[in-house]
Amino acid sequence: MRLDKYLANSGVGTRSVVKRLIKDKRVKVNGEIVSSDSFNVDETKDVVLFDDLEVKYKEFYYILLNKPQGYVSAVIDNVYPPVTDLLPEYRFANLFPVGRLDVDTTGALLLTNNGDLAHKLISPKYHVDKVYEVAVDKKIPENLVEIFKKGIDLYGELTLPADLKIINNFHAELTLHQGKFHQVKRMFKKFDINVVTLNRKAFAGLSVENLAVGEYRELTSDEEKHLLGNK
Ligand code: URA
Repeated sequence: MRLDKYLANSGVGTRSVVKRLIKDKRVKVNGEIVSSDSFNVDETKDVVLFDDLEVKYKEFYYILLNKPQGYVSAVIDNVYPPVTDLLPEYRFANLFPVGRLDVDTTGALLLTNNGDLAHKLISPKYHVDKVYEVAVDKKIPENLVEIFKKGIDLYGELTLPADLKIINNFHAELTLHQGKFHQVKRMFKKFDINVVTLNRKAFAGLSVENLAVGEYRELTSDEEKHLLGNK
């Protein structure tokens, strides 16, 4: 891989910035200054330093965001700011959200540049767990637990068994193993109940418990492995 690509993909700077850094002799490969941006680096074994600090190569990024309201789960939109605006330092990585949360929904949203993994995680075949905290405008009837467990007719097909835990009259936790358009809101609406606030506590086992709304973090290597094994 070209040295300028290695540095740009690692987040050191844009392609034109890293070209200048290379020309300015601030980059070393295996201990030697390299001043040609087309120098070929083996990302599996070469040691690249920028200002004498190692730059590790990473092809894929996995970021867990606690999405605030008012942001759209996309990379571009005409009306609302896209969630990627919340992670300016990762612009170089071309991240995109894995699946969607509504503009008014908060909580766990994974962003990555690994298209294969994203595709698998949102594929109906993989039944990734999604845990939602739901606040509603009417008392939640007890029998909804059983009804959601059996599945209800939405979009002309039966929803997969969902786990509803009623916390109190107006609050519940709902775990879905699928992710259809506006699924939580539509499941409650079917019983004339409106969702007032919706927060996704966890996606694919990744919890936003320790992230304030708007905060994000890279997954740990264990989480990455778990996710990739989850394919
Ligand atoms: N279900 C919804 O209705 N909205 C979301 O944002 C996620 C799940």
